[in-house]
Amino acid sequence: MPGGVPVLLALESSCDETAAALCSLDGRILAAQVASQATIHRQYGGVVPEVASRNHVLHIRSLVESVLSEAGYGLSDVVAFAATAGPGLVSSLLIGTSMAKALAVAEGKPYLAINHMEGHLLSPFLDGQGPVRRSVALIVSGGHTLLVRIHEPGRYEILGRTRDDAAGEAFDKVAKMLGLPYPGGPELDRLARMGDPTYLALPRSFMVRDSLEFSFSGLKTAVLYELPRLDLTKAEVLADVCASAQAAIVEVLVEKLVRAARHCHETLVTVSGGVSCNSGLRVALTERCRAEGLELLLAEPELCTDNAAMIAFAAVQRFNAGFTSPMDSEVNPNLALV
Ligand code: KG4
Ligand code: ZN
Repeated sequence: MPGGVPVLLALESSCDETAAALCSLDGRILAAQVASQATIHRQYGGVVPEVASRNHVLHIRSLVESVLSEAGYGLSDVVAFAATAGPGLVSSLLIGTSMAKALAVAEGKPYLAINHMEGHLLSPFLDGQGPVRRSVALIVSGGHTLLVRIHEPGRYEILGRTRDDAAGEAFDKVAKMLGLPYPGGPELDRLARMGDPTYLALPRSFMVRDSLEFSFSGLKTAVLYELPRLDLTKAEVLADVCASAQAAIVEVLVEKLVRAARHCHETLVTVSGGVSCNSGLRVALTERCRAEGLELLLAEPELCTDNAAMIAFAAVQRFNAGFTSPMDSEVNPNLALV
């Protein structure tokens, strides 16, 4: 094995990205690759589970071979195999977990079932930011909006969650109403950069003063009511509406994260998940955290959306703490973080 460093191989296939990564047991990502199916699902306006799982089957084997050759490792050098076991689409999760289990059995090595949300949660500590430290984390993805207190790797406390739509869902649904292509979040972000965030007065759901819960369905309804009087064929109007919707989501996310940090008397905050790619959110977080004296860790944009590097990193924390999973452990579409 190159340099004599033991490595773990992880697979991610919870939704429409197939990914593989190799992480050394001291937490360095040695190779990571992602095959995205976004363009395939665009024609349907969303992820079609059957199509997603078929495409995972097509790509997963070559991704495993390619991360091994990129890092100069052979299968027999891998000390453990991991895969995302939930939450996600069952038929997609089964491809990654079956592959990881098969490799583990063939090589006589342990298997680890990893929670996708733990992958996102720890991703800001990747890229040499480790070790994982006590902090308050905001996870904003397509399916989840969670405020989590990280005590140490594996010991987490949920501080707040969304009561309805996730932040990514809010971006995607508003984008769909505005006629933007799937996935709408990145496209809305791009247009918002050219728009006026004060164009529409959209609701900010802060709820009662100290609440750490989120709600984004009111925003969706407010945009829906505005639609008849908006001329979205005008590029500047479309950009202004995107900027207004983005500002409403971003303001709530930033405010609640700061509130949670104060509530827990923590000075380190982290943000992860696909929505943490959002340029408006990154700027607002940076400015607000500086003003509040909070240290902010944000994952690199390519580590914010679904990838296997974060799954490998989470798996290494578990493996080093002495955990492995039984070979008959099942996938769970609703797997909880805590
Ligand atoms: O974490 P992720 O890749 O997958 C899930 O685990 O859900 O998150 C995907 C979500 C989608 O809703 C997508 O629209 C959103 O993240 N997203 C963005 C941006 N990039 C991805 N939302 C707003 N602005 C972005 N730049
Ligand atoms: Zn995700």
